[in-house]
Amino acid sequence: MKVCIIGTGYVGLVTGTCFADLGNDVICVDRDKNKIENLKIGKVPIFEPGLEELIIKNSKIKTLNFSTDINKSIRNSNIIFICVGTPTNNKTNSVELKYVYQAVRSIKKNLNNYKIIVNKSTVPVTVGDKIEKILTSKKNKKNFDVVSNPEFLREGEAIRDFTYPDRVVVGTSSKKANKIIKSLYLPLIKKDSRYINTSRRGAELIKYASNAFLATKISYINELANMCEKASVDIKDVSIGMGLDQRIGDRFLRAGPAYGGSCFPKDTKALVYAADKFKVNLSIVKSVIKFNELRKNLPTEKIHKILGKNLKNKKITFLGVTFKPGTDDMREASSIKVIPYLAKRNAEIRYYEPTGYKKEFKKLKNVKFFTNIKDACMLSDLIIIHTEWNEFKQLNFRKLVNKKIIKIFDMRNLYSPDNMKNNKISYFGIGR
Ligand SMILES: NC(=O)c1ccc[n+]([C@@H]2O[C@H](COP(=O)([O-])OP(=O)(O)OC[C@H]3O[C@@H](n4cnc5c(N)ncnc54)[C@H](O)[C@@H]3O)[C@@H](O)[C@H]2O)c1
Repeated sequence: MKVCIIGTGYVGLVTGTCFADLGNDVICVDRDKNKIENLKIGKVPIFEPGLEELIIKNSKIKTLNFSTDINKSIRNSNIIFICVGTPTNNKTNSVELKYVYQAVRSIKKNLNNYKIIVNKSTVPVTVGDKIEKILTSKKNKKNFDVVSNPEFLREGEAIRDFTYPDRVVVGTSSKKANKIIKSLYLPLIKKDSRYINTSRRGAELIKYASNAFLATKISYINELANMCEKASVDIKDVSIGMGLDQRIGDRFLRAGPAYGGSCFPKDTKALVYAADKFKVNLSIVKSVIKFNELRKNLPTEKIHKILGKNLKNKKITFLGVTFKPGTDDMREASSIKVIPYLAKRNAEIRYYEPTGYKKEFKKLKNVKFFTNIKDACMLSDLIIIHTEWNEFKQLNFRKLVNKKIIKIFDMRNLYSPDNMKNNKISYFGIGR
C-alpha cells in the first residue's frame, strides 16, 4: 500500500519505517528540512534501538523514502497517517492542535482520489469529527474517511511494540476504511495480538484512558513509598507482593520520582481538560496530576537531606538524565528541573548519559558532560542514579568514586540497601 506519514518524530519515524519493512511503499514527510536531509543520508535524529538498521535497510530497497514535499507525498498515497506533535498549551492546559490542523489543511488541498486519513497523534475525543468537518466539501464528500488509530509504543521498545502490539485500536464506522487498515496491519495482528475496531471517539478515549491509568498506577505506588519511608517498610517488597496478584500486575508499580516523558504529563492534563468540557469531573486523574506536581520537589528535598543546605562546590554526579532508559527523549525528565536548581546553588554537576551530551544544560556554566562513568563519578560528593539504564545496575562504587565517604541517591531503587551498608556506603533510595 502507498502510505504517507506526516510528522517524522518518534512515532512517525517508527511507524513509517516498520510499515516499509512490511513491504509497503512509504513516504515520510516533515516540515523540518534538516531532519529530512539527514534521514536521506541515513542519519537518524533520535535514539531508538534497532531503528537505524531498519531505516538503512528499507531506504536502500526504496520502500522507505523521505521528503519535505507534503503536497506531492499526499497526492501519491492512499493512506495518510498524521503523526505530528500534540503538546500541552501551557496557558490553558488544553492540547495544542495546530500541527494536526495544519496537516489536515495540507491533506484537504491534495485529495485527488479516495484516501484514508489515519490520526495517530494523541488527541482529545471529537478531534476526529473536527478533522472530518474540515476535510468535507462538496467536491470531496465521498473521497475520504477519517480514522483514529492511537499509538501505544514505548520509546526504547518502539520497534518491538510496533511489531508485537498488545492491541491495534482502529476507530471508524466505515467498513471500507476498516477493511483496508486491517489489511495493512494484518502481518502484525496475526501474531496473536488483538485488533479492535471501535468508534472513532472510542479510539481517541482509549488512548487517554490508558495513559491516565498508567500515570495513576505510578502515582499510587509513589504515594505509598512516602508511607513506607515513615513506617520502615521497603516499597520494593510492597510492589513485589502486590504485583504478583495477576489482577494488579507488576508493571508501572516501581516507586521513583514524578512520572515524566512526552506523554503522561500532557495526556493526563488533556484528559481532564476534555472531561471538564463535557462537564465531567475526573477527580482521580486531577489528584494524580496534583500529586505528581508535588513529587517533582522530591529529588531536591532528598539532595538537601543528604548534603545539607549549602550545596556550593559540592560535586554531584548524575548517572543518566533522560526520563527513562532506552531513549534520548528529555521531555519532562526530572533532571530538567533538578540540574538547573543545583547549578543555581553553585553545585558542581557532572553527568554521564549513554545517549550523549544534552543541549538542555548547555547554558548552565557548572554542568559538565562526561563520556564515561568512571570520570563522572571520581571523587564525587553524591552520585545520583537518575535513569535505570542497564549499565548502572552493577557498579562498583568503591572503585568508581575512590573516596572514603561515598553517598548515593538511588532514584530507581536499583541497589540493595543491605549490600550498601555492608560496603559502608551511605545509601538513600525512595520509599525504603
Ligand atoms: N513519543 C511517544 O512515545 C508517543 C507514544 C504514543 C503516542 N505519541 C503521540 O504521537 C504524536 C507524535 O509524538 P512524537 O513524540 O512522535 O512527536 P515529535 O515531536 O517527536 O515529532 C513530531 C514531528 O512532526 C513534525 N511536524 C509538525 N507539524 C508538521 C506538519 N504540519 N507537517 C509536517 N511535519 C510536521 C515535527 O517537525 C516533528 O518532527 C503525539 O500526539 C504524541 O502524544 C507519542
